[in-house]
Amino acid sequence: MQTIDIALSGLGNVGRNFLRILETKSDRLAADYDLALRVVAVADSSGFSVNMDGFDPHGLRLRKEAGGRVSDLPEYKPGVSLAEFLSLPGSCDFLLEASPVNLSDGEPGLGYVRAALGAGISCVLANKGPLVLAYHELHRLAAANGAGLAFSATVCGALPVINIGRRDLIAADISLLRGIFNSTSNFILDEMAGGRSYADALAEAQRRGIAETDPSLDVEGWDTANKLTILANSFLGVEMTLADVAVEGITAITAEQLTAERAQGNVIKLVAEAKQTGNGYQLSVAPMALPADDFLAGCDGWEMGVEIHSDLYGKMFHKIWEREPLPTAAAMLRDVVNLWSD
Ligand SMILES: NC(=O)c1ccc[n+]([C@@H]2O[C@H](COP(=O)([O-])OP(=O)(O)OC[C@H]3O[C@@H](n4cnc5c(N)ncnc54)[C@H](OP(=O)(O)O)[C@@H]3O)[C@@H](O)[C@H]2O)c1
Repeated sequence: MQTIDIALSGLGNVGRNFLRILETKSDRLAADYDLALRVVAVADSSGFSVNMDGFDPHGLRLRKEAGGRVSDLPEYKPGVSLAEFLSLPGSCDFLLEASPVNLSDGEPGLGYVRAALGAGISCVLANKGPLVLAYHELHRLAAANGAGLAFSATVCGALPVINIGRRDLIAADISLLRGIFNSTSNFILDEMAGGRSYADALAEAQRRGIAETDPSLDVEGWDTANKLTILANSFLGVEMTLADVAVEGITAITAEQLTAERAQGNVIKLVAEAKQTGNGYQLSVAPMALPADDFLAGCDGWEMGVEIHSDLYGKMFHKIWEREPLPTAAAMLRDVVNLWSD
């Protein structure tokens, strides 16, 4: 049996669901992969704790669900940060990054990922911020230090869009990529079309743990734009930043517009598009009225989807139904096991 030591940054909706998976799937991981995953370090907004024998995932999750803080744990290390721990080579095998998105300076996630990669510790991200701000820097750092870097949880939750793009579209020229990448805004639009208020629908997405810590990222289109930027860099073969994406969210969409479009046989969706141009891609995020039989129009409520047109692999259509953060946490597990087995 091989033991993988993990530092877990963020014990919110995603981090707690990762702990839940360890509670329920440890026997399966041992039987299928001969692996034991041990959480040796944790951080939340209150601080950082370390236990090299491994935290009990069940007890830790229950504590957080009851409103506890990492700084209340007996293993709390006042005055020491997770970044300092990660900068020590060999302190652990993986950093799992699930702290909030910060598009200003990427912190705290970016600092944690830089520290870990610099020390040769592999990183698995659910947090898009570090990749949006420093995609190529982090890949160079990982390569220079022999560390793995995986982020299949950052786009469309557990839908393996990034894996498909990087592994299964060898030598493809992608002429068009379009998708619905944000289930909070997709759910809100669906519910508003059914007569529910915007505020009520957003509150449900927050209650289910699907909305971003700052939900303006969802409804103003930035979460979708973050994901489009990650896809552009990870498999469209271009170096693009958030500034290259024309972004419009759903906050100006009214119930009347949704009803009027529905009467015409159309559905309004928040659509991300990467269209191939002469020497690159034009990236946009905007609400669009789509014919009801369009693939993306058929991505209802809690679904997200992506459509990829290429010269070699035809037109692909993939979608997922994800109403809770458990599948996103499972995508982080998938990345850990895949990187470890590489
Ligand atoms: N929820 C989803 O369905 C989903 C899907 C895909 C990707 N993601 C991404 O996953 C990440 C986490 O999402 P979430 O829904 O779990 O968010 P969340 O529920 O708001 O949890 C964020 C966690 O990060 C912790 N945190 C805040 N500052 C920190 C710091 N300085 N160091 C370490 N941890 C810190 C918070 O601490 P406290 O507990 O003390 O507040 C909290 O535990 C985000 O980047 C999000 O974009 C989420």
